[in-house]
Amino acid sequence: MPTLLAIEVSPRFDYSVSRKLTSKFIEDWKTVHPDGKVIVRDLMKTELPWVDLPWIGGSFTPVEQHSEEMKKAIRVSDDLIAELKAADDIVIGTPMYNFLIPAILKAYIDHVVRVGITFTMNYEGLLTGKKATVIIASGSDFGPGTKYESANVASSYMQQILGFIGIVDVKIVLAGGTLAVDMGQKSLGDFIAPIESGLSASVRA
Ligand SMILES: Cc1cc2nc3c(=O)[nH]c(=O)nc-3n(C[C@H](O)[C@H](O)[C@H](O)COP(=O)(O)O)c2cc1C
Repeated sequence: MPTLLAIEVSPRFDYSVSRKLTSKFIEDWKTVHPDGKVIVRDLMKTELPWVDLPWIGGSFTPVEQHSEEMKKAIRVSDDLIAELKAADDIVIGTPMYNFLIPAILKAYIDHVVRVGITFTMNYEGLLTGKKATVIIASGSDFGPGTKYESANVASSYMQQILGFIGIVDVKIVLAGGTLAVDMGQKSLGDFIAPIESGLSASVRA
């Protein structure tokens, strides 16, 4: 039974374009995998502590040497990694913030990128055999050929960091130009329709 892990990031909930598109991805994925299991990891509803000294101690020392403080600090990381390991397919729906990803998604990444667990000292990714789709909603359009295309560091960063932990089959879906929806110049339906049809094609068996 295949498992899809859907990671939600936007604090805009009902107004969020990335959440709308992630929902569509989940719907399409369920059609392709009727017996599949979907796990939703909503970062807006997850307590994600920042990396601190006990976390670093826990992450870089053998389990036998862990103090109670270290064990407690890396528990969230252990749980999030177990969830990610169990997934065959991953979809991440995220806003672009300041040309990158929101801090909450970076905090999640800091928890799941762990030496000896998701990558080796030789820079080998250990989470192989998975597919990921990253949906990035942004106020402006950063698509191919646009004036500010190169300012979008979110796409390359997500591709690079997922690849670093072994997830090399990554598809990036840009949902650029949401400002037109927020300004009332375009309906949400009209905005997402063409992206949704492309998204359906990216749901792979
Ligand atoms: C703090 C913040 C930073 C943002 N930075 C950018 C940006 O760098 N480029 C851009 O095009 N839009 C930017 N936006 C707009 C969001 O990317 C846009 O509203 C997007 O639709 C948010 O995703 P969501 O609809 O899923 O919430 C920013 C919005 C906020 C609140």
